[in-house]
Amino acid sequence: MSGPNTNYDPVEVALLRPEAVSAAVDAALDAISHASSLEELKSVRIAHVGDRAPLSLANREIGALPPAAKAEAGKRVGAARARINDAMQARQDELTEARDAAILVQEAVDVTLPTQAGPRGARHPLALLNERIADIFVAMGWSVAEGPEVELEWLNFDALNMPASHPARTMQDTFFVAPEESGVLLRTHTSPIQIREMLRHEPPLYIVCPGRVFRTDELDATHVPFFHQVEALAVDKGLSMSHLKGTLNAFAEAMFGVGITTRLRPSYFPFTEPSAEVDLQCFVCRGASAAGGDPCRTCRSEGWIEWGGAGMVHPKVLQVCGIDPDIYSGFAFGMGVERTLMFRRDVRDLRDLIEGDVRFSHFFGGDI
Ligand code: DAH
Repeated sequence: MSGPNTNYDPVEVALLRPEAVSAAVDAALDAISHASSLEELKSVRIAHVGDRAPLSLANREIGALPPAAKAEAGKRVGAARARINDAMQARQDELTEARDAAILVQEAVDVTLPTQAGPRGARHPLALLNERIADIFVAMGWSVAEGPEVELEWLNFDALNMPASHPARTMQDTFFVAPEESGVLLRTHTSPIQIREMLRHEPPLYIVCPGRVFRTDELDATHVPFFHQVEALAVDKGLSMSHLKGTLNAFAEAMFGVGITTRLRPSYFPFTEPSAEVDLQCFVCRGASAAGGDPCRTCRSEGWIEWGGAGMVHPKVLQVCGIDPDIYSGFAFGMGVERTLMFRRDVRDLRDLIEGDVRFSHFFGGDI
């Protein structure tokens, strides 16, 4: 090219000079290749492709060129911008892929890792024992009956042949539901369930009644203000003490092992006549300790363990419930479930039974 360049020669326009264009391309490619994240690439795009980028400004100059020069400059700038755009797109793809891969790693869940499961609960040994007792009787064809813990004084005492003046009433220290004359109390034993069942059903009756009872005892290792009893009642024609004894022995065997028997000692309960204390043959030494054998901790070498009360249902109690004592007779017994559990599993302190420490329940195999 001879002679001076005219104003229209693209080479005369600083931005359109080949060195300027290729310098802009080099700078853009360098910045693109050094962008290490999508955010950085965004800034690179603004700087090298945006409206104020050198090549965008150069592109604008093309419009002012004479037609002949336009084509050449347009091609050159266009090719330069295309290179940058291609590089930009390629880097964008790379960075997007890298980001997605990183997210997959970050958010990955290893389903084979051990879980942080909450602590496991357990059935309470008393609940398990109550179920076991009920099962033993259900297996003999008896049914399970329950009654309310807040009970009528009349059912808890009067109907059981304990009128207001009866001294036996003070034997059971009673929680009254205020006021005391309300005639409503926390049942002191499960015997009122007997009355409820006899009032509700005609004999024959064979029922077992587990339940919680309340007495105003102070809490210590051998006393609690509430505990559990299980009551049994049979009313039928021709029932005698021998049926009572046979049932107690069957219960003792099912609970403590084949051959374990019971013994009846004369006693007194207002609602039975005759009445008896029930002793359980010691299921550890089977009586050997009392007959001169090694000492036994379970029965304190007595050979027998006090288990509960029993007797033939008092005719007055049958009468109150509308059952003719000349036609029907009945037997009944009742024992403490905590006591039964304590000597069955060698629990020394009653408080362990009510504190609700799950380790205690796990220890007795009530895992769930
Ligand atoms: N209810 C009595 C008590 O809590 C226990 C009892 C004794 C129940 C003799 C009976 C029975 O059914 O016949 O001390």
